[in-house]
Amino acid sequence: MSDKQITTRIVLASRPEGRPKPDNFRLETVRLPEPSKGEVLLDILYLSLDPYMRGRMDDAKSYAKPVAIGAVMEGGTVARVVESADPAFKPGDIVLSHSGWQSRAIAKASEIRKLDAKAYPVSTALGVLGMPGFTAYAGLRNIGKPKPGETVVVAAASGPVGSAVGQIARIMGARAVGIAGGREKCDFVRDELGFDAVIDHRSTNFAEELAAACPRGIDVYFENVGGHVWSAVAPLLNDFARVPVCGLIAHYNATAADLQGPDRLPATMRDILKKSLLLRGFIQREFADQRPDFEREASAWIASGRLKYREDIVDGLENAPAAFIGLLDGKNFGKLVIRVSNT
Ligand SMILES: NC(=O)c1ccc[n+]([C@@H]2O[C@H](COP(=O)([O-])OP(=O)(O)OC[C@H]3O[C@@H](n4cnc5c(N)ncnc54)[C@H](OP(=O)(O)O)[C@@H]3O)[C@@H](O)[C@H]2O)c1
Repeated sequence: MSDKQITTRIVLASRPEGRPKPDNFRLETVRLPEPSKGEVLLDILYLSLDPYMRGRMDDAKSYAKPVAIGAVMEGGTVARVVESADPAFKPGDIVLSHSGWQSRAIAKASEIRKLDAKAYPVSTALGVLGMPGFTAYAGLRNIGKPKPGETVVVAAASGPVGSAVGQIARIMGARAVGIAGGREKCDFVRDELGFDAVIDHRSTNFAEELAAACPRGIDVYFENVGGHVWSAVAPLLNDFARVPVCGLIAHYNATAADLQGPDRLPATMRDILKKSLLLRGFIQREFADQRPDFEREASAWIASGRLKYREDIVDGLENAPAAFIGLLDGKNFGKLVIRVSNT
C-alpha cells in the first residue's frame, strides 16, 4: 500500500457538555483501502467549518444524524482526485465532496461534483458559491421575500450567510441593516459590503441603536442567532413581517439547564397573532432544486461586484478544533475554511 493511502483525520472523541473543548476531538493517522469500482481517492485541499457541526456532536434527535463517537467529524470539502476507479473522474480533477475533517478520503463518484478551478477560487464552493451562500438565497427568495424599500435585518452579518443575505436583499431593492460583533466586523459590513446600516450587538445600547437604525420597523428578520439579538428585534417587527429561522447559534452550546428560563412563549405567540407574523424554519437542502438558479445568479453578482465575500482561512487540519470552537464564540471573520493541503 502506498503513502497515498495514509490519511490524518480528526474524530469525535467525546460529546461536549456545553462549549466544546479540545479534548472532545482526537487526531489519528490511518490507512485507507484502495478505491473500489465507482470510487475515487481524494487529497483534501479545503475543509469548511460551519456552525451546524456543533449539533452533530450531540446525541440528540435532529434533522441529521449525530457523528458517532470515534467517527470522523463531518464537513464539506474541496479536494483533488489522486486515483480514480470511475470513468467520470481523472487524477487532477478538483471536486466538491463531503469528506469531513481528514487529509485524504475515499469517496463515491456519484457523491462528488467537479468544480471549474478557473472560474473562481475553489474555496468559494464552500462559502459564497456553496451551501452558506445558497442558504441566504433560498431563505430570502422563499420565505423572507423582501419588497423594494422594505427593511431587512440580519445578524452574523460578516459571516458567509449574513453577508450574502444583506447584499442579496439590497439587490432585491430592500434596505439592509446588519448586526455584527465588534468594530472591525461592523466597519467591514458597512464599508466593504455596502449594508445601509450596521449595529454592534455587543454595544450596551444595542436595542436602542437597532431601533434607531430601523425607523420604519423591520419587515424581514433573517434569524441567524437567537438570544439577545432576537429580544431586540422582536418589538421592532412590523405587521406581516417574515422571519426565516435559519440558525440559532447563540444557543448551540446551551445545556438542558441553560434552556430552562422564564417562559416567553406566550408573549411570542401573542406577537405572532397580533402582528400576523410569519416565522418559518428551514434547512437549505429543502430548496435544492433552486441551486442551479443560485449558482448562475450568484456568479453573475460576484462578477459584477454586487456580491462580495470574505474568507477566514486557517492553515493545517490540526488547527480545526480550535478554529471551530472559536467560530461558536464569533472569533472567525468571514467564511471559516481550513487549508488542509497547500500542494
Ligand atoms: N438552516 C440552514 O440550512 C443553515 C445553513 C447554513 C448556516 N445556517 C446557520 O446560519 C447561521 C450563520 O452561519 P454562518 O456559517 O454564516 O456562520 P458565521 O457567521 O461564519 O459564524 C457565526 C457567527 O455568529 C455570530 N455569533 C455567535 N454567537 C453569537 C451570539 N451569541 N449573538 C450574536 N451573534 C453571535 C458571530 O459573529 P459576530 O462576531 O458578528 O457576532 C460568529 O462569527 C448559523 O446559525 C448557522 O447555523 C443555517
